[in-house]
Amino acid sequence: MAKREILHIPDSRLREVCAPVEKVDDEVRAILDDMLETMYDAPGIGLAGCQVGVMRRLVVIDVAGREDEEPSPIYLVNPRLTVVSDELSVHQEGCLSIPEYYEDVERPARCTVEFLDRDGKPQVMECEGILATCVQHELDHLDGRLFIDHLSRLKRDRVMKKFSKIDRRKTETVG
Ligand code: NI
Repeated sequence: MAKREILHIPDSRLREVCAPVEKVDDEVRAILDDMLETMYDAPGIGLAGCQVGVMRRLVVIDVAGREDEEPSPIYLVNPRLTVVSDELSVHQEGCLSIPEYYEDVERPARCTVEFLDRDGKPQVMECEGILATCVQHELDHLDGRLFIDHLSRLKRDRVMKKFSKIDRRKTETVG
């Protein structure tokens, strides 16, 4: 396993639509393992392929979170939301591609996701609470959407501007 570099906004790869995975083979499993290691190291509770420059429909999630809990990783290949509840809930979200920025986001409180697991077997998972939020946040990534897209235009413009400045500084330092 190897840690990969996490892309930050305004990297254009975070705005692309990821391609479906044709077959869950050892190469895909190796990417999933790298993604999980990268996510744990960050630390975060979810990571999508495009966040490490892998433009495929791959997601890893572990909402167990606390250090005293056993890790319980979930690997999602080609995930698809099949049901979302009418009931909404608000959770504070952050994103490893938008460091140190947190805002409340309203999303469906429950959802059902169909996906292939690490062995390529079809699975159905019903989600609520933080898992439902996390699944929807990560699936957004696969279609080039970020959680800031759910905020007001004013807030989104403000955060994009802040990160564009940081990005320019980095370029200038490099030369
Ligand atoms: Ni994110």
